[in-house]
Amino acid sequence: MIPLEPYYELSDDVLDTRIRIAKETLGAECVILGHHYQREEVYKFADLTGDSLKLSRLASQRSDARYIVFCGVHFMAEVADILSAPHQTVILPDMAAGCSMADMADLPRVQEAWRALGEIMDVEREVTPITYVNSMADLKGFCGEHGGVVCTSSNAVKILQWAFSQREKVLFFPDQHLGRISAFSLGIPLEEMVVWDPTQNNGGIDPDTLRRAKVILWDGFCSVHQMFQTAHIDLFRARIPGIQVIVHPECSFDVCRMADYRGSTELIQTTVREAPAGSQWAIGTELNLVNRLKNEMPDKGIYFLCPTICMCSTMFRIDAQHLCWTLENLVAGEVVNVISVPTNVAISAGKALSRMLAVV
Ligand code: 13P
Ligand code: SF4
Repeated sequence: MIPLEPYYELSDDVLDTRIRIAKETLGAECVILGHHYQREEVYKFADLTGDSLKLSRLASQRSDARYIVFCGVHFMAEVADILSAPHQTVILPDMAAGCSMADMADLPRVQEAWRALGEIMDVEREVTPITYVNSMADLKGFCGEHGGVVCTSSNAVKILQWAFSQREKVLFFPDQHLGRISAFSLGIPLEEMVVWDPTQNNGGIDPDTLRRAKVILWDGFCSVHQMFQTAHIDLFRARIPGIQVIVHPECSFDVCRMADYRGSTELIQTTVREAPAGSQWAIGTELNLVNRLKNEMPDKGIYFLCPTICMCSTMFRIDAQHLCWTLENLVAGEVVNVISVPTNVAISAGKALSRMLAVV
């Protein structure tokens, strides 16, 4: 295997040229997928870009490519592995590119919640487990085996609708904010939602309250999106009358409610791109995406909603050095950083992902 360290001695220009050459050498054998939060130095080499849902679909459609190099985070590469064909190999250029929100729920704690709920109600008949795609593959597997489903930021409302057509309650993990705003937009009042604290007995909720609840939200959140505050929206509206606010649904309930629009990274990008010249936007999502839109559209006023910098440090781990190293290893016949979900988990998780793809 070619070692990584020497790549940090290369200049940006040299890295650019070498990535380009390696990509050309690999040709159609290799497809690079890039999430919208990727740094520019990496994103510009992506053959296909998108939000989590779009990238999941794209991964399953590119069966011609032997290698899928996923410039994103670990759970996304796992989904690509589950949805891609057996002859394809998924690669994550830096294995440390995780997601702190995904780490907030794990299989033992979700199984324990399911067991505890089972003492209070008939879980298999009454509760649909829904996992946000930002979760480990074995949690998707859990949902697959318990009549549950995966959702993404772009389809959470539709998936909840589907879930309520199956059973009367949902257990939604790991992102409480996405679950709350999506359920609320279906008309479910906050009084019918509870937050399950996995460190407490019975999630810290008394049995009667649990029996009355329609939505049980896991106590998880995105540390990047929780930085956006309603006061930031007030400030922009006072400073720039007529400014439109668009946020990702991982933001808090109050921020989502106050914004003019909310949606996935793909929806944010499309909405701002389609807006007329001269329009003003304050955007509440990761900085790399906001900066890209700002540079691309100098004819619009585009602002980052938070006064301090909030970036996704794990998305940031994928840099030009790791991408170049990954591709040059492939050219040399070495496959590094393979993401391979164990077959039994992939089969169960595949059921929950297929349910999602059948609904949306
Ligand atoms: P999207 O599916 O909207 O791209 O979101 C992924 C994510 O991790 C946002 O923090
Ligand atoms: Fe995870 Fe938040 Fe980063 Fe998205 S922005 S990958 S939810 S830590």
